[in-house]
Amino acid sequence: MKIAVIGTGYVGLVSGTCFAETGNTVTCVDIDQVKIDRLTHGEITIYEPGLEKMFLKNLRDGRLKFTTDLKKGIEGAQIVFLALPTPPGEDGSADLKYVLGVADQLGHILEDYKVIVDKSTVPVGTADKVKDAIAKHAKVEFDVVSNPEFLREGVAVEDFMKPDRVVIGSSSDRAKKVMGDLYAPFVRQGNPVIFMDEKSAELTKYAANSFLATKISFMNEIAQLCERLGADVDMVRRGIGSDDRIGKRFLFPGIGYGGSCFPKDVQALIKSAEEVNYDFQILKSVEKVNEKQKTHLIPKIQSHFNYDLNGKHFALWGLAFKPNTDDIREAPALYIIDSLLKSGATVSAYDPEAMNNVKSLLKDTIQYSMNPYEALKDADALIIATEWSEFRTPDFDQIECQLKNKVIFDGRNLFDKNNLKSLGFNYLCVGR
Ligand SMILES: NC(=O)c1ccc[n+]([C@@H]2O[C@H](COP(=O)([O-])OP(=O)(O)OC[C@H]3O[C@@H](n4cnc5c(N)ncnc54)[C@H](O)[C@@H]3O)[C@@H](O)[C@H]2O)c1
Repeated sequence: MKIAVIGTGYVGLVSGTCFAETGNTVTCVDIDQVKIDRLTHGEITIYEPGLEKMFLKNLRDGRLKFTTDLKKGIEGAQIVFLALPTPPGEDGSADLKYVLGVADQLGHILEDYKVIVDKSTVPVGTADKVKDAIAKHAKVEFDVVSNPEFLREGVAVEDFMKPDRVVIGSSSDRAKKVMGDLYAPFVRQGNPVIFMDEKSAELTKYAANSFLATKISFMNEIAQLCERLGADVDMVRRGIGSDDRIGKRFLFPGIGYGGSCFPKDVQALIKSAEEVNYDFQILKSVEKVNEKQKTHLIPKIQSHFNYDLNGKHFALWGLAFKPNTDDIREAPALYIIDSLLKSGATVSAYDPEAMNNVKSLLKDTIQYSMNPYEALKDADALIIATEWSEFRTPDFDQIECQLKNKVIFDGRNLFDKNNLKSLGFNYLCVGR
């Protein structure tokens, strides 16, 4: 099939590459000329395990193309995916200006029947708005489908190639057939393609992310209780996770969820509920708990240094909002850095993939280290904000040599606390 993907960010680039991998010819469109030039010349623009190899192969074989020209990009395509940003507006609701802006443009340039697919995370009713925006100027038939994306950054290629499920919201048999054919190679093992109406598909995505965010905030509150009651959240996690009804995943406490999805999607669902006079109380609490959790380590750090961080220097391991990505949107590490700098402290940071993104954002307000051990030099303590695998079994002798004090604040509970105690470290973590 011939496919166009509008918006070549995390979702657009992964989707486009994976569709090309199954034999489709894909043109990815973006307004960012620099991004399109880099991609056209074989330079990958995001870090995502397994993506670069697949991207280069499909680029070389001519199945993957890039352009900034929307009209050229959709030429001959049967399906046009919208993988555009839906950031929070001022009131927290999803801002649809990118999605509706492109829909309006499509109305002017459609020349033959196409299936237009919302892959962005959008509030209930957006498929209708997209339909109306295109219909205003379109002279040909088209269908609008809601096909929310569930990939997780860090394992996005795997998730896309073997999705747990594919959700397709459509009331058109013609569009359903096209979408079913497109996704058939991705669900050969029998995972379901679930057809539903557009509104249910739109809500499914928000419900999924909000439920997962709820699980995280719930465990973070249990961790808070553990700290106050002297229980160990690791034990509680294992105790409840072995119950099938609860499940083992998403029960790890930490310093809050971040990223480009959970924070904004929880906010947007609260707002959508308000718009239909429903007070989504659980989600409001989930958000409040997460806000507090992002700086959970700060009072521990302050208390350890007698509430005077002025002139103190900290090593920070991990900047990305989670491991295996370079994405720093809403990363808890950024909140920690902000709080430390405001208290007069300085920071040396290391992250395997996210350093360039942080450099563009924070410039020289912090120091950047070439490796985790360099960051430790003359630091008063080590802070861990992201659970990258390479931090899990570090050389504790080196840590001891480089740090001024044997103190580790671990926001991701990476180490065995008894082991750290026996090594003489002062180890402060979450809920243990
Ligand atoms: N990142 C994720 O893990 C993830 C997962 C599932 C769903 N989503 C959803 O997918 C959507 C896209 O997310 P993302 O993380 O890929 O965003 P992103 O910011 O990484 O990428 C969006 C891209 O769209 C481009 N763009 C903006 N306006 C454009 C226009 N008029 N024409 C062409 N391109 C344009 C931007 O330049 C950017 O490259 C969002 O709604 C998000 O909530 C994201």
